[in-house]
Amino acid sequence: MVIITSINNSNKLAKKLAKELNCEYFKTEVSEFPDKDLYLKIKEKVKGKKLIIVESFQPNPNKTLLNIIFTSQTAKDLGAKKVILFCPYLAFMRQDKRFNPGEAINAKIMSKLLNENIDKIITVDPHLHRILKLKDIFTIPAIKLTSNHIIAEFIKKKFKKDIAIIGPDWESYQWADEISAEIGVEDTVLEKTRNTSRNVNVEVKKEINIKNKNIIIVDDIISTGNTMIKAAKEAKKRGAKTITAIGVHGLFVENGYKKMEKYFDNIFTINTIEHLTNKIDISTEILKELNKKI
Ligand code: R5P
Repeated sequence: MVIITSINNSNKLAKKLAKELNCEYFKTEVSEFPDKDLYLKIKEKVKGKKLIIVESFQPNPNKTLLNIIFTSQTAKDLGAKKVILFCPYLAFMRQDKRFNPGEAINAKIMSKLLNENIDKIITVDPHLHRILKLKDIFTIPAIKLTSNHIIAEFIKKKFKKDIAIIGPDWESYQWADEISAEIGVEDTVLEKTRNTSRNVNVEVKKEINIKNKNIIIVDDIISTGNTMIKAAKEAKKRGAKTITAIGVHGLFVENGYKKMEKYFDNIFTINTIEHLTNKIDISTEILKELNKKI
């Protein structure tokens, strides 16, 4: 028997999945004692059941990691048979090496903690860059879902013709190349230099026909929005008809959304992180995976 919970960040998606799978849903109660210690409570009966925790790592990735570990350990203590984590957005993946002496390698520490505390992880388009596969850091079964197909379908419906795709940096070829191939349009992947976490430059290395086209810039993460804005400026210079941003994970930190608005005709994201730009629904992809093996 399967039961679904969420903690703070993915309540809508968790409820929707529970309804589709026709199983029980509850919200894990989490708050703080007056001294700020974590207080967590599971009110439903989880004994003998498979618990699916649906929880995105945004907002508050650091707290979320602790919340997930406490939820899983409490569920196991209460007799849950198995704990599966579906985190539509997995944080800690960008600090995937020691860039400067003494730094923590976040991806390795996060995965070690999850390996020790949950039985299986499913996530959507994790930021795999220097770490190439989830199985390089996870010893538990780790499933990567991709949103390429649902993004391609969305673009085809929304923009009937004159489409071209831009990936704003090298890693975004994973989305730009596949999506453009599925739609049957041209794409170019830009070269990005990151000067600081808030300052980037992009360069167009391969020119494609952008003039009078509906340009769609696709990336896995929109964080401050600066990468997207730099790419939009290049598209505008080349005479794009409309400019649209599609991010798999819309973090929009530091007023990112407001900053982006004036450069884009449209900004769309997938509902891996709850935001008003959520126009593409990941449910179908996760349901396919859950229906396979729960
Ligand atoms: C990083 O390599 C990611 O793919 C994104 O390009 C990056 O996280 C975007 O960050 P920002 O929105 O702050 O420019």
